[in-house]
Amino acid sequence: MVEWKGPLGSVQADTAQFCSMTKNYLEAAVESAQEAGKILIEELSRPLDIAYKGDEVDLVTQADKRSERFIVERLTKYFPDHAIAAEEGTGHESVSASEFRWHVDPLDGTTNFAHGYPCFCVSIALAQRDTLLAAAVFNPFYNELFTAARGEGATFNGKKIHVSKNATLSTSLLCTGFPVRNRKASPNLQYYGDFTQHSHGVRRDGSAALDLACVAAGRFDAFWEFGLQKWDTAAGVLLVEEAGGTVSDFAGNPYQLGGPVILATNGLIHEEMRTMALEISRRSQGPARP
Ligand code: IPD
Ligand code: CA
Ligand code: CA
Repeated sequence: MVEWKGPLGSVQADTAQFCSMTKNYLEAAVESAQEAGKILIEELSRPLDIAYKGDEVDLVTQADKRSERFIVERLTKYFPDHAIAAEEGTGHESVSASEFRWHVDPLDGTTNFAHGYPCFCVSIALAQRDTLLAAAVFNPFYNELFTAARGEGATFNGKKIHVSKNATLSTSLLCTGFPVRNRKASPNLQYYGDFTQHSHGVRRDGSAALDLACVAAGRFDAFWEFGLQKWDTAAGVLLVEEAGGTVSDFAGNPYQLGGPVILATNGLIHEEMRTMALEISRRSQGPARP
């Protein structure tokens, strides 16, 4: 049994009420993302308070921390039994025996935020064991809200969205990202170069959650990145799947949250991208990447 004490009042659910509970989960994700977004906008006009998480470009700001504190508090209030995995470590991941787990990135695109480049967002998703149920990605600067609920489709600012219909890599616009940790070990420059030469171009926007949301909305035809964390991709994966796209690793296996590489496409160019990715991997003579 799960209890919800949000805007719709108090509800208890079993499996038969799955759909309405998913709606409630989504409302909680949206509400939390939008409120946290207000905090980010407030912090954007304040003097920056940056710290580094070990590596020279792995930034964390007061905004990341305030946003996370708010989201964890709100979700805990609504769903006290649920586990929360949040990037800055204030969730309660391991103490909970619940099969429900929230994946929270309180500020995805921290480097952009710190430089005043308005490509950043709040990303929140709920999974029941391995199944993603609800997702919200919110860019508070542009007031852009992407949502998805399992089996219910994906939306952008309330309107249904669908992945693009572009069927060839050569006419596609792609997107990728580079890690902030262990930068020199990343194999991605090779992939970046090759895909750039075989497409309309590769963008690097600096927020994996928004990159995936843009695939869902048909703005990009595909996105790939190595080494992303669960909170970076959880919401975006559900958005892409519910918008009709395909998500896997380079070998074509289902993408596992936190897996070594993610490939999210409109479905139509998936095999073409996979084939090229495997070829690049062979040519680079590194070990074949999953
Ligand atoms: C980062 C962004 C970026 C990606 C990095 C992530 P953060 O998350 O998603 O696009 O390339 O790998 O770490 O640190 O801004 O939450
Ligand atoms: Ca992130
Ligand atoms: Ca973050």
